[in-house]
Amino acid sequence: MEYQTIKGEKVPSLGLGTWRLSRHECVRSVEHALALGYRHIDTAQIYANEDEVGRGIQTSGVDREEIFLVTKVWTSSFSHDDVIRSTNESLKKLQTEYADLLLMHWPNPSVPLEETLGAMSELQEEGSVRHVGVSNFPPPMVEEATQHAEIFCNQVEYHPYKAQDELLEQAKEMDYLLTAYSPVAGGAAVNDATLREIGKAHGKTAAQIALRWLIQQEKVAAIPKATSEDHLRSNFDIFDFELSDEETERVFALRR
Ligand SMILES: NC(=O)c1ccc[n+]([C@@H]2O[C@H](COP(=O)([O-])OP(=O)(O)OC[C@H]3O[C@@H](n4cnc5c(N)ncnc54)[C@H](OP(=O)(O)O)[C@@H]3O)[C@@H](O)[C@H]2O)c1
Repeated sequence: MEYQTIKGEKVPSLGLGTWRLSRHECVRSVEHALALGYRHIDTAQIYANEDEVGRGIQTSGVDREEIFLVTKVWTSSFSHDDVIRSTNESLKKLQTEYADLLLMHWPNPSVPLEETLGAMSELQEEGSVRHVGVSNFPPPMVEEATQHAEIFCNQVEYHPYKAQDELLEQAKEMDYLLTAYSPVAGGAAVNDATLREIGKAHGKTAAQIALRWLIQQEKVAAIPKATSEDHLRSNFDIFDFELSDEETERVFALRR
């Protein structure tokens, strides 16, 4: 495993995404991932699978303290009381006393940031949330958010076809985690000819090159979703090689 250091804390650079995983399949993927060595799991209230993620963690036998567990408050629960209520529900479903990171899932201009982040900070003070952050926030909104809470993360779509230069710069400057969601472009990058060609030199697949490229960037973590054991395993098998500067640039050139 490799880590990014954010505000002095080490966060696993590779995590498991769980959007569209449900029921037994979700429990099994979480269990499998933890058995393979994953220590960062991403869920959200709107995924309706926090119960299953919690069960997967329980049955894996991996100590809770070893796992960086992330969930997200949905936009309809951004009022102060709804943040507190819904997060407590999430924790119950996840069978845990705390989340490592709680995110606002998307911006919602109808509720002041101060109210939502204020409630999240209260949860942080009482210990039910270790860090707070945002998701799908453009740079000026992240800046605004930092006036109301210590922002640990912004989770956004980021993969070889999508540029995120401004946020990358901001993440470095402000020392927050830029979590790349849809890191293999929802599956679209797994057959990319350039990624495949780069992979050949390392004995790796196109998906592994996309993931390696992401986590080699400062402050970036990637959370591929995978159901099959084969995908879970190969996505985790990216810590034994490095991309050269030239290879890195070739991947950056794939942006559309
Ligand atoms: N904050 C947000 O608004 C937001 C939005 C979207 C996603 N997310 C988070 O980010 C996670 C990942 O994003 P995503 O699910 O949209 O896309 P993704 O991880 O880029 O792609 C997932 C798809 O790629 C396939 N795949 C994964 N690894 C593969 C491999 N090694 N070879 C071939 N195919 C592979 C998966 O197949 P199998 O499942 O069949 O293995 C699945 O169909 C989500 O699960 C969620 O946790 C957050």
